[in-house]
Amino acid sequence: MALVSPSLLAADFLHLDRDIDMINRSEADWLHLDVMDGSFVPNISFGFPVLEAVAKVCKKPLDVHYMIERPERYIKQTAKLGAMMMNVHYEASVHLHRTVQEIHDAGMKAGVTLNPSTPVSVLEDIIGDVEMVLLMSVNPGFGGQKFIENTIDKVKRLRRMIDEKGRKTLIEVDGGVQGETAPRLVAAGVDVLVSGSYVFNAPNPEQVIRDLRQL
Ligand code: DX5
Ligand code: ZN
Repeated sequence: MALVSPSLLAADFLHLDRDIDMINRSEADWLHLDVMDGSFVPNISFGFPVLEAVAKVCKKPLDVHYMIERPERYIKQTAKLGAMMMNVHYEASVHLHRTVQEIHDAGMKAGVTLNPSTPVSVLEDIIGDVEMVLLMSVNPGFGGQKFIENTIDKVKRLRRMIDEKGRKTLIEVDGGVQGETAPRLVAAGVDVLVSGSYVFNAPNPEQVIRDLRQL
């Protein structure tokens, strides 16, 4: 059984109400929200006006993924949305330990995100302080990219690290998660699957979400 966090980036932005209704009706565990700043990643997605509108109607816990420089600037504003999880990139927050503490102080769970080229070994001294590690299985910035195969091995190494420390830290994977990659990711030790285009471009997104949860 995997948790499923559909990524709103792949939704129809002209009809967000319709797509949020689908998410609310579905068995999705969380809703994944990708915030990009055009600096940390070469794309800009959406910011607080959209997050606030979505937060008002979405019944699922919000799993916010910041692909922005110095995400610590927005901890309070994110907590105000009622977000459940705030994911920040290891590569974007210099004083990561402080950032994680501030996320907790604001009443949210903390996730640390790694780019595909960042090894899991950098988590050694922070893993005990976070509720989740988000491994990027594509280079962040765009939906619909090809899954980076090395992620499978990376998940296994992270699973070993977490188990050896006797922790309950969740492993979430984001990028190129679809019918072929999802079962292999879950077998490798993933707890939470983020999926954008595979869910939203499907003829029956609710069924896709149900099937991913069964893995
Ligand atoms: C990529 C984002 C992902 C994206 C995944 O930068 O972080 O959440 O929406 O999209 P798919 O599932 O289409 O690869
Ligand atoms: Zn994401």
